[in-house]
Amino acid sequence: MTGSWRLFLLCSLLQGAGCNAAQFEALMPASVTTLSGSCVTVPCSFTVRDGIDCGNELKFSFKENPVTIQIKGLPEAPRLTTPKEPVVEGTPVGLGCSAPSYCDTHPPTVTWTPALGLSTQLQQNDTVTSTLTFNASHLHHGNNVSCTAAYHIPSGNKTVTSTRYQLSILFAPRNTSAVGSPCLPAGEGGCLNLTCTSHANPAVSEFTWYRIHGEQTLKIGTGSSLSIQLWNAHYVFFCEARNEIGTEKSDVYKIGIQANEFSSYSSALGSGSGTPFSSKGEGCITGVKVWELPNSHITGIQLRHGANWGSVLGIVTTSELSMELFEGEAIVQVSGKYNPVDYIYQLTFRTSRGRSLIAGQPLQVSFNFYPKFARAELRMLSGRSNDKGITSLGAHWGIVHEMN
Ligand SMILES: *[C@@H]1O[C@H](CO)[C@@H](O)[C@H](O)[C@H]1NC(C)=O
Ligand SMILES: *[C@@H]1O[C@H](CO)[C@@H](O)[C@H](O)[C@H]1NC(C)=O
Ligand SMILES: *[C@@H]1O[C@H](CO)[C@@H](O)[C@H](O)[C@H]1NC(C)=O
Ligand SMILES: *[C@@H]1O[C@H](CO)[C@@H](O)[C@H](O)[C@H]1NC(C)=O
Ligand SMILES: *[C@@H]1O[C@H](CO)[C@@H](O)[C@H](O)[C@H]1NC(C)=O
Ligand SMILES: *[C@@H]1O[C@H](CO)[C@@H](O)[C@H](O)[C@H]1NC(C)=O
Repeated sequence: MTGSWRLFLLCSLLQGAGCNAAQFEALMPASVTTLSGSCVTVPCSFTVRDGIDCGNELKFSFKENPVTIQIKGLPEAPRLTTPKEPVVEGTPVGLGCSAPSYCDTHPPTVTWTPALGLSTQLQQNDTVTSTLTFNASHLHHGNNVSCTAAYHIPSGNKTVTSTRYQLSILFAPRNTSAVGSPCLPAGEGGCLNLTCTSHANPAVSEFTWYRIHGEQTLKIGTGSSLSIQLWNAHYVFFCEARNEIGTEKSDVYKIGIQANEFSSYSSALGSGSGTPFSSKGEGCITGVKVWELPNSHITGIQLRHGANWGSVLGIVTTSELSMELFEGEAIVQVSGKYNPVDYIYQLTFRTSRGRSLIAGQPLQVSFNFYPKFARAELRMLSGRSNDKGITSLGAHWGIVHEMN
C-alpha cells in the first residue's frame, strides 16, 4: 500500500523514576516516511520538565500525538556529491552518494557504476552515505559516474539510480606524436609538412618543434603543423606539447632527403590558358601515354609510376600513343614544339636507352627539356590544359631515392 496515513500511536513510559506525569514531555516526529513493503521506525523519547520531585510509581501514555506515516511506492533517488573543482590527474578524488534509509534494520546497499575505486558505506540516522575514492587518471576523463541504491523488500527488491556525473580530469599532454608528409610547392628542394598531435585536458595551448642536429637541439618553430624546406641531409625532429598542467615530448621523427640537391625544373612553356595540372605518383616512372588530335595538337598525357597509371593530364581522344619502359630505364629528355598562342603541338619522350615516343605535328617553336644533373630522370610533369588540349608544359627532374 502507498499513500499517507495519520495514526495515533501509543508511546508509553512503563517505568518512571517516580515522577508526576505532568512533568514529562514526549518527543515523536510529526511524520515518518517509508517504502511500501518495508518496515518503519517511529522514534519516541521523553524529557523531564524542570522542578522535579518524582517519588511515585509511574505508568503513562501520550495518546494525543498523531504521526503521519507516508508510504511511498518508489524510493527517492540517491543524491551525488561531486568535486567542486576539476580534478588534476594523480590526485585523490572523492565522490559521495547519499540514499535515504527507510527501515533501520534493512538499510539500502549502495553501488557505483563504473566501480572506479574503493567505496565505503556509512549509516547515520536515516541516511546511508557511500564514498567512492580513487586516484584520478586521464583514463577516467569523460566517464559518466552514477550510484545505485538497492532496497531489500520481501515483496520485491527496489533499486534507484542517481543522476550521472561526467568526470573531468585535467591532465598534461599524452600520446604526443610527430609525423611529416610532403607538401607543395615541391619546387627545387623538398617541402615537408610536420604535424604534431596530442591529447590533453585542457587542450594543448602550445606546440614547439625541435630539430636534433649532432649534439645540438634547435628550436625551429611553433604550431601544430609546420612547413619547412629541406635540403640534402638526414633530419631528426620532435615536437613538444604544452598545456597548463604540463608538457610532453614526442618520439623523434626521422627523414632522409637525397634527391633534392640533384633536382631541377624545366620551366613551363606555352600560352598557359585553362586550369593547372601536375602529375602525381610514387617511385619511378614506368610508362607514358600521349593523346593527339589527328594532324593537330597534343590533347592529353598520362604517366605510370610502378604499376599504377596516374590521372590523365588534359583530355583523352581516340588517337593514343604509348610506351612502356624497361626495368631501370628512365625518361631523360622531353622535347617538342608549341604554338605560343595556343597548344603544345609535338612531344618526344626520350629514354636512357635511346628509345623515343613521338606524338603530334612539327609545327611552330621548338623546346627541349632535360635534367641539370647527371643520373637525374623525369619525376613529374606540370602545366595547364583547357577543354581542347594542353596549353603549357614543364618538367621536374630528380634522382629517384626510396626513403625509409
Ligand atoms: C542525527 O540526528 C541527530 C538527532 O536528530 C542530530 O543531532 C544529528 O546531527 C544527526 N546526524 C547527522 C549526521 O545528520
Ligand atoms: C592513490 O595513490 C597513492 C599513492 O600512490 C596510494 O597510496 C593510494 O593507495 C591510491 N589510492 C587509491 C584509491 O588507489
Ligand atoms: C557520457 O555521457 C555523455 C552525454 O550523454 C556522452 O557524450 C559521453 O560519450 C559519455 N561518456 C562515456 C565515456 O560514455
Ligand atoms: C533482494 O535483495 C537481497 C539482498 O539485499 C537478496 O539476497 C535477494 O536475493 C533479493 N531478492 C530478489 C527477489 O532479487
Ligand atoms: C593514448 O593511447 C593509448 C593507446 O592507444 C590509449 O589507450 C590512451 O587512452 C591514449 N591516451 C589519451 C589521453 O588519449
Ligand atoms: C599540413 O598538414 C596539416 C594536417 O594534415 C594540414 O592541415 C595543413 O594544411 C598542411 N599544410 C600544408 C602546407 O600542406
